[in-house]
Amino acid sequence: MKDFGEHHLCLKKRKKSEFFTKIPCVLRRLTMEDKDEALALHRAMAASATPDIFVPGTDEDFLHILEGGGAVLGVQEGRRIVCMRTVLFQTHDDEILREDMGLLPDQMTRMAFMDYCVVHRDYRGNNLQFLTYYYMEDLLWEDFDYLYTTVSPRNVFSLRNVMDCGFYAFQLKERYGGHMRYLLRKDLKHSPSIRMKRHASAPLRDYPAQQSLMEGGKVGYRLARHISGIWMLFGTLVK
Ligand SMILES: CC(C)(COP(=O)(O)OP(=O)(O)OC[C@H]1O[C@@H](n2cnc3c(N)ncnc32)[C@H](O)[C@@H]1OP(=O)(O)O)[C@@H](O)C(=O)NCCC(=O)NCCS
Repeated sequence: MKDFGEHHLCLKKRKKSEFFTKIPCVLRRLTMEDKDEALALHRAMAASATPDIFVPGTDEDFLHILEGGGAVLGVQEGRRIVCMRTVLFQTHDDEILREDMGLLPDQMTRMAFMDYCVVHRDYRGNNLQFLTYYYMEDLLWEDFDYLYTTVSPRNVFSLRNVMDCGFYAFQLKERYGGHMRYLLRKDLKHSPSIRMKRHASAPLRDYPAQQSLMEGGKVGYRLARHISGIWMLFGTLVK
């Protein structure tokens, strides 16, 4: 995997009394030398997560990724890590391995699982989930062709960003012990087109309507705001 180097970003930081300041930060790949700071953010996020929105892995899962089972990008303000994005190279999760991704066994070895992105509250609104995704995509480019991720239909901030990064939702089902999740995929090298003409749509909260569209072969490709709430737009995959 290629060297990542250091990238300088000047980010908006939210201050207590509703104003922003600008802080120089560094984006780089984290290693085991960053273990303490990285675990601190991972644990803080795990402690505040609600499973309906997000189920973080254990400390061991995270350390496995940091040790080389995947890659972690981090944004640092000084020593403190304010954003992390993790990817898992090879999953042993039976739920994922059983999923019909439409991939042949040798293609499965070229699939990486986008695990999570977390941004410290003070730094939200810098598009870091979007930005760090594209840096990660570049890092993964030579070794992987397919990316896979899951997002809760109730995690609208994350869902919007993931779809803006080019993922499409091909299933909506219970995962992680009974919590609804979209399964999303992005093909890097030979991406199918999505036919938007005569698209269908359904409210995010209407799971049966969305599941029936997906069973009929449609995929969710964008969120749209309606008076009645947020809707998913569905199109047809053209291979
Ligand atoms: C999802 C997440 C990474 C997005 O962070 P981000 O990249 O900074 O978000 P964006 O830059 O797209 O934010 C767009 C707007 O939504 C707001 N926003 C983002 N996440 C928010 C949240 N969880 N709660 C309230 N508002 C939020 C931002 O403040 C910003 O508002 P503004 O336009 O008024 O400045 C972040 O909410 C987070 O860390 N959530 C907890 C962990 C999680 O759910 N991760 C996703 C699972 S993979």
